Amino acid sequence: MNFTGANILSVDQFNRDSIDEIFAVADAMLPYARRQKRTKVLDGAILGNLFFEPSTRTRVSFGTAFNLLGGEVRETTGMESSALAKGESLYDTARVLSSYSDVIAMRHPKSGAVAEFAEGSRVPVINGGDGANEHPTQALLDLYTIKKELAYHGHAVEGMHICMMGDLKFGRTVHSLSRLLALYPNVRFTLISPRELMMPDSVMDALANAGHQVNVTDQVSGSSDADIIYQTRIQQERFTSPQEADQYRGKFRLNSEIYTKHYKPNTVIMHPLPRDSRAEANELDNDLNQNPNLAIFRQADNGVLIRMALFALTLGVADQVKKYECDVNWYSDKRNV
Ligand code: NCD
Repeated sequence: MNFTGANILSVDQFNRDSIDEIFAVADAMLPYARRQKRTKVLDGAILGNLFFEPSTRTRVSFGTAFNLLGGEVRETTGMESSALAKGESLYDTARVLSSYSDVIAMRHPKSGAVAEFAEGSRVPVINGGDGANEHPTQALLDLYTIKKELAYHGHAVEGMHICMMGDLKFGRTVHSLSRLLALYPNVRFTLISPRELMMPDSVMDALANAGHQVNVTDQVSGSSDADIIYQTRIQQERFTSPQEADQYRGKFRLNSEIYTKHYKPNTVIMHPLPRDSRAEANELDNDLNQNPNLAIFRQADNGVLIRMALFALTLGVADQVKKYECDVNWYSDKRNV
């Protein structure tokens, strides 16, 4: 795949080679993310960071990634504070904002809205989540994390068993991650959810067409040989009412007791975050916080590396990052542990 100038809208754009290329660039970003070195490769470049849906880590990590490459970030958050609230089309907004930026990261509550926006943009557009559809940068950072976590235990993505649990219907992260994993041979999937929140047919078809073994269940038991357990939040914002979401909240929880009872030691625990820590939900309990297999904060850290890699690649500077390197003069030791 030629990344320079490309939009990143869907994981369907990638093959194994392009994923490996992104991951190799992400690996090279570690010294900058850890503040061992700085780079000014994107000095003068502007990121338009447009978030029309709530976000903390995706929005801030896109911004941080761009800053770490030496670029400036201009943010627009919330539909109500933008001209979209005045009835402006995505096309018009894109035409205008792409004159003010060199690359745009965008999140929008409507499926397909980021692709529609990209049609009007004259600079690369990166999808930060479009409704219940896709979240390609999250899937890349999840896969990058899975590879690293499994490698630590001497395993590979090929042949692994992953359990995905919770709201698989509206959770865009599991849609994109499943499609990416479909590229790897012999991956086994166990999909645990209430019947009403099962993985959409389009994703099931993609897995079946790629020849994967998929077990669909509403029971936590029975997947004791899983290598990864990927927990998700009930996506309340996609239900017709909060009361409807309430029916499913807290149905599938993961805590220390359940983990020890149902999963083998060293099963890697993942969650895209935010976890809903209210008592009625508490899908991923704090009592797992000291468990070394809890990878959720490593996922979030890896998000910066992946987003740095995507900016460097789409702006065509991946091979120049080191050339613009300079020293870090401030205290930063704690990051390196
Ligand atoms: C996810 C999202 O926005 O889809 N969060 C994230 O980007 N890390 C998952 C969620 O909100 O539950």
